[in-house]
Amino acid sequence: SIQAFIFDLDGVLTDTAEYHFLAWKALADELGIPFDRHDNEALKGVDRMGSLSFILSKGELELPEEQVLVLADKKNRHYQQLIEHMSPADLFAGAHQLFADLKSRRIAIGLASASKNAPMVLDRLGIADQFDYVADAAKVKQGKPHPEIFLTVADALTIAPQDCVGIEDSLAGLQSIQDAGMHSVGIGDKQVLNGAEQVYAQLHEVDLAEVLALGKPQR
Ligand code: G6P
Ligand code: MG
Repeated sequence: SIQAFIFDLDGVLTDTAEYHFLAWKALADELGIPFDRHDNEALKGVDRMGSLSFILSKGELELPEEQVLVLADKKNRHYQQLIEHMSPADLFAGAHQLFADLKSRRIAIGLASASKNAPMVLDRLGIADQFDYVADAAKVKQGKPHPEIFLTVADALTIAPQDCVGIEDSLAGLQSIQDAGMHSVGIGDKQVLNGAEQVYAQLHEVDLAEVLALGKPQR
């Protein structure tokens, strides 16, 4: 049965997926590389350097590593400006209720965000103390879609992957959850996230009983 919920952050608990998009879009525009929301779907959940190399290869731009690092840093500084003003009001509706419902059922709560800015965002949202374990993105060797980050969180919580639910807004993240052998919940567009076992358009629509039923033996 389900004993842990492992959340992605950007686009699941708050709208920072939009800020990542805006910051990448500004950089791509500056480089003269076409980049739209459709391209961005492939980038959601993908780490900073992986995202940048996707954009550069879309523009068939090959740059020395030094310059690539400068661009990555530029995007990050822009992103950090965008999240500077965030507050608890930016937490998606339903998050506190869901955390409370999970705690009352003694279901552990983990975070599997690829973002090195995640601790800052959690602080700004006022939810840093809600998690039993937060993965350190800097220590993850193989980013999403590899299952490493979700498996690291399950391991730290000492809960078997098949007793975990991973909750994601990105295709890369869902792949990561599936390859970790966990149950999957998508937040967003059903057409896009068609690999997830359950998809809800928004976080507040998550039906906990329905999700927990995924962990019950089928009959
Ligand atoms: C998350 C987001 C991605 C972002 C990645 C790295 O996975 O979904 O859009 O590129 O984190 O974030 P960072 O803040 O470390 O650049
Ligand atoms: Mg996300």
